[in-house]
Amino acid sequence: MADPTTAEFSDLLREDRTFPPSEAFRAQALVRDEAIYAEAARDPEAFWARFAAELEWSTPWTQVLDWQPPHAKWFVGGKLNASVNCVDRHVRGPRRNKAAIIWEGEPGDRRTLTYHDLYREVSQFANVLKSLGVTKGDRVALYLPLIPELTIAMLACARIGAVHSVVFGGFSAESLRDRINDSLCKVLVTADGGYRRGQIVPLKQMADEALEGTPSIESVVIVQRGEQAMKMVHVKEGRDHWYHRLMQDASARCEPEPMDAEDMLYILYTSGTTGKPKGIVHTTGGYLTGTYATTKLVFDMKDEDVYWCTADIGWVTGHSYVVYGPLANGATVMMYEGAPDWPQKDRFWSIIEKYGVTILYTAPTAIRAFMRWGTDWPAKHDLSSLRLLGSVGEPINPEAWVWYYKFIGGERCPVVDTWWQTETGAIMITPLPGVTTTRPGSASRPFPGISAEIRNEKGETIPAGGGLLALTRPWPSMLRGIYGDPERYARQYWNKWGLGVYVTGDGAKLDAEGNFWLLGRVDDVLNVAGHRIGTMEVESALVDHPSVAEAAVVGKPHAIKGQSIAAFVTLKEGIFGTKAHLELLREHVAKKIGAIAKPDDIIFTADLPKTRSGKIMRRLLRDIAEGKAVGDTTTLADPSMMAKLKAQYENET
Ligand code: PRX
Repeated sequence: MADPTTAEFSDLLREDRTFPPSEAFRAQALVRDEAIYAEAARDPEAFWARFAAELEWSTPWTQVLDWQPPHAKWFVGGKLNASVNCVDRHVRGPRRNKAAIIWEGEPGDRRTLTYHDLYREVSQFANVLKSLGVTKGDRVALYLPLIPELTIAMLACARIGAVHSVVFGGFSAESLRDRINDSLCKVLVTADGGYRRGQIVPLKQMADEALEGTPSIESVVIVQRGEQAMKMVHVKEGRDHWYHRLMQDASARCEPEPMDAEDMLYILYTSGTTGKPKGIVHTTGGYLTGTYATTKLVFDMKDEDVYWCTADIGWVTGHSYVVYGPLANGATVMMYEGAPDWPQKDRFWSIIEKYGVTILYTAPTAIRAFMRWGTDWPAKHDLSSLRLLGSVGEPINPEAWVWYYKFIGGERCPVVDTWWQTETGAIMITPLPGVTTTRPGSASRPFPGISAEIRNEKGETIPAGGGLLALTRPWPSMLRGIYGDPERYARQYWNKWGLGVYVTGDGAKLDAEGNFWLLGRVDDVLNVAGHRIGTMEVESALVDHPSVAEAAVVGKPHAIKGQSIAAFVTLKEGIFGTKAHLELLREHVAKKIGAIAKPDDIIFTADLPKTRSGKIMRRLLRDIAEGKAVGDTTTLADPSMMAKLKAQYENET
């Protein structure tokens, strides 16, 4: 648990460098006037309605917000279609032949899709889905590499009112299976494979393993991404179909389904504090309004921009800021399939130079890796096209912020550190680049129309200081539920301080000027390299192994990844914790969840610190993993074990 009162955090607040927007940036910015905050605060509903009105609706809404805490309906009675807003309306105007997607594959292959290309392909694939029996409300699982077909498939689902559930290609077969089964997906769209660091990620092979236990899946569509080697995938007669074959026969006209503003757009699974990921539900009108407005204002999005958010579409950042937000703005979206260090450590900088990228949105983990690789790599490239930099996914340390500003942004580009979550759907705390004086390490202020507070455990508002971050007013892109679990939705997010207050699970501190400094999760959720992983998920994966009696998992600080995973494991009687066994358990976690969840450290211990009633005290394990003095052990059944365990940990890691 991150503690907002730690020394580390006080250090952060000693950060006093400030970066006001340059005159040159401000002069051309979409928002130049602070007054937008006051205007939105006066009437948040009118503020949001102004952005919703910039979208295309087939039926206007009759009420902006119906708020029955914790249930919100935005733009009540309104009808619209997300694919129409992301594609059709641009095709009807001067953006028709503008690049919607510029894509580069890891091996160096490239494709450009104009808005008109995208219109045709989305419509065709929408017809393909229909031909496979997909109708409004059906769930479609997407397990794909970062290729244009993923965007196409998402928008095709949206076009016919099907609900997409994208599963990140780095998740294991078992994770894919569980996600498919939780929402009973009817169709799975996957690929023969994708590229990562020169290796082929055999997606279809993994999907085949998942498909052994997914009775709801009627059809599988396989995108042919790869070279000859990849095409050797198993194709099950009657169930599996090649994407390109189905597309050949499909019409490029598909009437969009008019969707109610509150109809479901997608489900995205994310980790929580239990062993089972939650299917976060987003609906159509509010989500599109939130992602549209934030993309426009936070990234100061203009028609001339080449905008690159490096996130995988499998995460919410990709949903909101690779697909829906930028395409709703008619932007040109850069997409790159592979790793930043392939074939060399300047791949990002070479892409920026080659395509003239103007806006870069990436994660602190990547920035810290770039820092370690050194400034020679970016220096080899002309990065002068860049005009704005963004950061997302984890707290950014001031050193990384300043490095990014200096060596990537050439001390010319504002840096927007954006705080938000899968649940919030869109950016919540962020600078506005033409207005905000930024401070490295602070995400600055709530976006106009968003209301955030710091509270203590009792729920009292703290005007300045550290505590728990809460959102105190509903917002259009907020989650509408957890798929199939309404009770967990209310309990998890809204039950701490009364039904109108959303509990973020993050700790933060508010300074005297109203800037928020995010510290990280205060619950049992880890953030490893910007990927959200539940400690309980990893624990369940470990105890699933027949040799494991008990496991406790905690996060520890990591210089590049922000956090890494440390596991304390008790093996069953008679099993010896060898190095080989340790590797076996790491592989087991990779098989159950995905390689991103592999613990860096595993410590075999005969005992875990427990209270007299048998509850594992993870807090004490965290102290050990973080290298701190061990806290209060008086409630432990056997306090003497802690010193031994600490010594062992220090010896073995
Ligand atoms: O702890 C916060 C951290 O990421 C969590 C949300 O993770 P996820 O739902 O996967 O969404 C990630 C992309 C939005 C938050 O609870 N987080 C995200 N952005 C920041 C951040 N922590 C600090 N600063 C940020 N800018």
